[in-house]
Amino acid sequence: MSQQDSHFFNTFSVIIGLLVVITILLLALARVVGANTQVVHQRVDPKYVAGVAESIVPFARVAVAGQDNSALVIVDTKASAGSGPALPEDGNAAYEMACKSCHGAGIAGAPKSGDRASWAPRIAKGNDTLYKHAIEGFTGTAGMMPAKGGRTAWPDEIIRAAVDHMVEINK
Ligand code: HEC
Repeated sequence: MSQQDSHFFNTFSVIIGLLVVITILLLALARVVGANTQVVHQRVDPKYVAGVAESIVPFARVAVAGQDNSALVIVDTKASAGSGPALPEDGNAAYEMACKSCHGAGIAGAPKSGDRASWAPRIAKGNDTLYKHAIEGFTGTAGMMPAKGGRTAWPDEIIRAAVDHMVEINK
């Protein structure tokens, strides 16, 4: 091999090596940026969460003769009697409808129902703070609590009742 050739190969290898390093750095950077901007926001997007809840609803329910089948009644929340969408009756119902999707399983950093250790410091903030954070939304160190859990059309009293219910079951 002539001296010129080996000089060419050396330079070429260095350049290839640099390109590989740059590629790896770009991949790492893309992952970091992606982790902070995409998945996180998608998981707390109320529409996405509602979509997940909707798609995991059981597709069939079985009525048993001679049993109380009232739990099987299909409630159409969108077209219920009266004007506007149906509102939950109490804090428990509101929790089931709007909060459990995250707080039931501890999704996206939400303090999990039943996990008293993670609720204790929150309950210690006092109800007024919890009401405010639940109604206006709150981003803490654990994640993002969307305003009213995404049910922005619900009146504040219902959210307060849901908070009362959550505090009650996590005391
Ligand atoms: C999309 C997921 C999600 C839904 C739905 C949701 N939460 Fe949360 N919630 C969170 C997360 C995440 C946190 C923790 C925020 C943090 O401390 O970083 C949180 C925290 C809270 C807290 C504690 C706030 C504090 O100051 O420590 C309360 C109270 C609360 N949520 C109430 C509710 C109520 C009531 C509902 C239903 C109306 C609800 N959440 C629905 C994700 C959710």
